[in-house]
Amino acid sequence: MIINTEMERKGNQFPNKIVSFEKDVDTIYFTTENNVLLQLTVIRDSVLRFRYATNSNLENDFSYAIAEDYTRGYNFLEINEDETCYTITTSKLICQIRKEDAHVKIFDAKDQTLISEDDWGFHWEEHCDYGGNIVKMSKMTQDGESFYGLGDKPVHVNLRGKRFENWVTDSYAFGKDTDPIYKTIPFFMGLHHKKAYGIFFDNTFRSFFDFAHERRHVTSFWAQGGEMNYYFIYGPEMSDVVSGYSNLTGTPELPPLWALGYHQCKWSYYPESKVRDVASKFRSLQIPCDAIYLDIDYMEEFRCFTWSKAYFPEPKKMVADLADDGFKTIVIIDPGIKVDKDYKIYQEGIANDYFCKRADGPYMRGRVWPGECFFPDFTKPEVRKWWSGLFKELISEIGVKGVWNDMNEPAVMEVPNKTFPNDVRHDYDGNPCSHRKAHNIYGMQMSKATYEGLVKYSYPKRPFVITRASYSGGQRYSSTWTGDNVATWEHLWIANVQAQRMALSGFSFAGSDIGGFAEQPTGELYTRWMQLGAFHPFFRTHSSGDHGDQEPWSFDDEVLSIVKKFIELRYKLLPYLYTAFWKYINEGSPILKSLVLFDQDDNQTHNRTDEFIFGDKILACPVIEPNAKGRRMYIPKGKWYNLWTNAVIEGGKETWVDADIDSMPIFIKEGAVIPVYPVQQYVGEKEITELTLEVYFKKGKEKSQLYEDSQDGYDYKKGRYSLRNFRVVGKKNELIIQQHQSGKFITSYETFKINFHGLPFDVSKVKIDKEEIAFADVKVNGGNSIIVSKEFTELHIIGK
Ligand code: GLC
Repeated sequence: MIINTEMERKGNQFPNKIVSFEKDVDTIYFTTENNVLLQLTVIRDSVLRFRYATNSNLENDFSYAIAEDYTRGYNFLEINEDETCYTITTSKLICQIRKEDAHVKIFDAKDQTLISEDDWGFHWEEHCDYGGNIVKMSKMTQDGESFYGLGDKPVHVNLRGKRFENWVTDSYAFGKDTDPIYKTIPFFMGLHHKKAYGIFFDNTFRSFFDFAHERRHVTSFWAQGGEMNYYFIYGPEMSDVVSGYSNLTGTPELPPLWALGYHQCKWSYYPESKVRDVASKFRSLQIPCDAIYLDIDYMEEFRCFTWSKAYFPEPKKMVADLADDGFKTIVIIDPGIKVDKDYKIYQEGIANDYFCKRADGPYMRGRVWPGECFFPDFTKPEVRKWWSGLFKELISEIGVKGVWNDMNEPAVMEVPNKTFPNDVRHDYDGNPCSHRKAHNIYGMQMSKATYEGLVKYSYPKRPFVITRASYSGGQRYSSTWTGDNVATWEHLWIANVQAQRMALSGFSFAGSDIGGFAEQPTGELYTRWMQLGAFHPFFRTHSSGDHGDQEPWSFDDEVLSIVKKFIELRYKLLPYLYTAFWKYINEGSPILKSLVLFDQDDNQTHNRTDEFIFGDKILACPVIEPNAKGRRMYIPKGKWYNLWTNAVIEGGKETWVDADIDSMPIFIKEGAVIPVYPVQQYVGEKEITELTLEVYFKKGKEKSQLYEDSQDGYDYKKGRYSLRNFRVVGKKNELIIQQHQSGKFITSYETFKINFHGLPFDVSKVKIDKEEIAFADVKVNGGNSIIVSKEFTELHIIGK
């Protein structure tokens, strides 16, 4: 076999003939003649796990990524053997393992479409320097296959033709195609023949993915250590793949509603008077804002868990005054602990052996903002416990509401590799290892420790954490932002693709530094960025502060009024966004959906980058060029209402959409019921006495949902939530809205104001639960708007 000689020349080793086969409930073990062990676990009918060991020894099965409570269990499992292969059949998949060389082929169980097929399959190289293996997997790229996922990579939505590296990296002023970058999310999806699958390569070493870049017909992934350990997740719907991945790696606690409001940040707001000025300016200009951030200058010479006495003499009072005005204070906490024998945190770290050490024993020293620092080993349970306890004063006593974890790649200044050297030792929760294995999860474990502190001390309120570095599963503990971007138009494009990619990689609660972190945006760029930001799950302006200001009023009156209008739009849409969060958390459905995820059957969507669906009913597309009066965009199939004009457009085509600087292309799916709150200056400012429902007529049926609860706290877990399922049925001369409510939460409002859009008839009669109501009693605005009790189960609008 020529190919084998060629492969051997490359120094790779391969499994050979399968000589034994064993089944243990849901797990099947195949051993080859040259001692490769393939452990195949049937997690669900559509999820298979593959682990390979050379020399037959599997590692201790430990993962930071996999959620404790992921779903296991299948409906059907059958294993057959013939001369050439073993065949494992579930209700969704057929998986063949070739006897000759353990090659894997996976088919759709229903129609036998080939979904995935090994090229060289598993192979490895012994790692001479470190021991262990460089583990590799190569699969055939299928005809017309597109690839998606991989977290925050700042590239085109479709990854085909590209190669990537995963090594969490502080990437100040990164650009399009910068790689590696801040996060490691080794999960991708492939889509071909209208069917999608996903692969999650749960390996924390430096890893690589090649999507038909080196060889046109081959997609491969490999890591510089650890095991070949991957999960194959089948759709065929891409949305099922994402939710399958979310099920495996988890979703966060529902955020407090205020965290979905607007956040204002800068490096740095200080002294206290500056913070107060910024906050009061929001209120005097009536621009909604829920959170204000303190960057590193609030500390005493950048010592974590201290306050600068000169700048913030009375933090508790300031935080309380801000809270009275509706502002939640969020503070930054970095991992570097200043080497200072008089500093309590440093002393505790030394006394208890909490800091990371080099292979031969000395502490890991690195320079960050405070100068020379030591770094807690967040992979050690005792260290996380200690760290979580450090938040007591900040949260319980001072009243801080959220914590911002930064520099946790971990970033080290003045060294070429920007991080720890490889030999640094970590506990890895009782699986001691070097930094090669722990690097990619260091930031995630820091955010976990922080999260545990916030859960404890924010109780009975919900925690809010934001982190820069993370790994798959990190979404359980924290929201995130895309790091130090730049105030350029290209970065607006990048912010858009990164937020979409994060969402389809299971990490929905993400956003960018609006306006750009480095350099100064023009008023126009800032405005366009705010328009996009209003549709990102995390909505925050942040800037490095070494240029001009970046608050809504820092430009001119036109910018101010447009930015205000978009922040107000965000606040109106809060109940809709909160419902999308609830669906993300419960069903793993991403809050932002790239068009391919929304309609994978339409080939036109496979390479669209700019348009996305916010929640499940709103189509948005930012304007990302200067001096634009609108833009061309693709409208997915179906009928859509232009939010601003109510004009209906038939999708399935590219079209020009007007959007001067005060506008942005936004469309609502026909049949949608969009819940709307009144504009508030901050969440909870007003009691909601009436809920507005914007109903967009459709000839046909459509379902919408509205999830509400007390907006914070944990009562919703005891059934105190309200879920409204709406079903709209439109006909030539009538419109029926059915409502099914569940849950024990009593909403503060008694009535709905329903605004009708696109009714093709004049209303003559209204029936509520089959009873006719005098039209004059409900009508508000010539039949386009009615007010009804929130209790209805069926509303029947009849035309003349
Ligand atoms: C890093 C962060 C940035 C922060 C700065 C100072 O560059 O990414 O957001 O403002 O450090 O703390």
